[in-house]
Amino acid sequence: MVDQVKPCNPRRREYYCDVINPREFRNTSPTIRTSSRSQMYACSHHRSVGLNSWVKALVVGVVSCAVGCGGDGSTSGTADTDRYAWTQLTPSGVSARVVTTDAACPDAMVDGAVMAMDPRASTSPSGFDVRVCELAVPEGAQTLVVGEQSLRLPPSDTPTKVVIVGDTGCRIKQTDTTVIAQACNDNSDQGWPFSRVASAIAAENPELIFHMGDYHYREAPCPDGNEGCEGSPYGPNWASWHADWFEPGEQLLPVAPWVFTRGNHEDCGRAWLGWFLFMDASPLPTDPWNQDNCQQFTPPYRVAVGDLSVAVMDSSSIPKSANPPTPDPDAVAEYAAQLTAIAALLADDSNAWLTTHRPFWSPRANLPGDGDPLVAIETTLIAAIEATGGLPPQVPLAIAGHVHQFQKMTFDDGRPMQLAIGGGGTQLAPPVTSDAIATYPEVFGTLGLDPMNFDMFDEFGFVVATRVGDAWTASLRDLDGGEITSFPLPAAP
Ligand SMILES: [Fe+2]
Ligand SMILES: [Fe+2]
Repeated sequence: MVDQVKPCNPRRREYYCDVINPREFRNTSPTIRTSSRSQMYACSHHRSVGLNSWVKALVVGVVSCAVGCGGDGSTSGTADTDRYAWTQLTPSGVSARVVTTDAACPDAMVDGAVMAMDPRASTSPSGFDVRVCELAVPEGAQTLVVGEQSLRLPPSDTPTKVVIVGDTGCRIKQTDTTVIAQACNDNSDQGWPFSRVASAIAAENPELIFHMGDYHYREAPCPDGNEGCEGSPYGPNWASWHADWFEPGEQLLPVAPWVFTRGNHEDCGRAWLGWFLFMDASPLPTDPWNQDNCQQFTPPYRVAVGDLSVAVMDSSSIPKSANPPTPDPDAVAEYAAQLTAIAALLADDSNAWLTTHRPFWSPRANLPGDGDPLVAIETTLIAAIEATGGLPPQVPLAIAGHVHQFQKMTFDDGRPMQLAIGGGGTQLAPPVTSDAIATYPEVFGTLGLDPMNFDMFDEFGFVVATRVGDAWTASLRDLDGGEITSFPLPAAP
């Protein structure tokens, strides 16, 4: 059991933070769970008693309180004294990144040699009391250590195991008429299980991880009296990014190099500050935190590890239209240009995957009162593909997130298999039922999709893609890594 160590932010609320065993960290559902570099805490309103020996051994000195323990949803915050580190693939190679509250950037050890990490920006945006540092890792490097943390570099050959996950943050949203508050403090499938998904992915020990976008969901305060999300921070700031991404992902971040895709939750009207500070693959522009300088569309790029070639497309920005959606002419032109650029990027590849946040040919079931019950979501992207004459023939697989469930669509007209992998932790979407498909046949007509070629699982989880020889197989996993189904991934003809 957990044991009370000290009151945590008593000026705000009567929370107490307790050092706990790592196993308990995942298995308990206190009001707030958080961690520092070497210790894990549970925070709740109530004191508990009876230190066990394991905990006693860890309680040394003063325990500092991490983000969330104050619990009043501040708009900024000095959240943690931790260091979060990872590697990610960019168009110019491997980038090592660190988020730290230290005044200076740490050094990295690359193949045993000290290399200085540089600040990613001269200043962080308002509300982000952290420094982000980066290092362009020399090509061919074998080992990388930052502080005491080893960071995985890409394999020298084509990976044999890749994980794909998407849509991971805890949804707290308020509109003029509704409040949606996911139970961020509950890691069961009735709440917000991203921490369990992250643990299950780490246990797979993949060589590469794709995140399909939508990291930041805590946009509004937790409603008064709602214990499910009580204490959650909110807003486009470090405290919310920490709660939604860095704290639950801390153990997963160094496990494998990442390919980050930008979601619509990171567009220029929402969590763009964090996206560009932490994850965007390119150097920051001058005066990066000026709203006028937010890039609505970042250019597509290609990464490759061995023979695995991947195009990354930013589809975060499509103006919200009526429901059912209609194509936005300006966005159609922009995305058609991006698809043309992708065809050029992949010109020398015989086989490549295309990743982007929004699925091209996906049905979405809407909640009652939210437009038509079943819609073809991305008519803008469908129009852009039609404007370019189709996706490049060397793309057998298009991977997306955005729809908060798992979808698989296959076609017999030359289009690639489309996967939507959006069950990473964010509140699941309503299932696309056979009744709805039969009631609204025009939706699948718009998608050009035979309902017999559509599979859907409305469960939390992720996908593990494994390679044997040249053949890839996908395994859909639940939130603890158990297999739900598996299927072969196509190769280019
Ligand atoms: Fe999402
Ligand atoms: Fe999305």
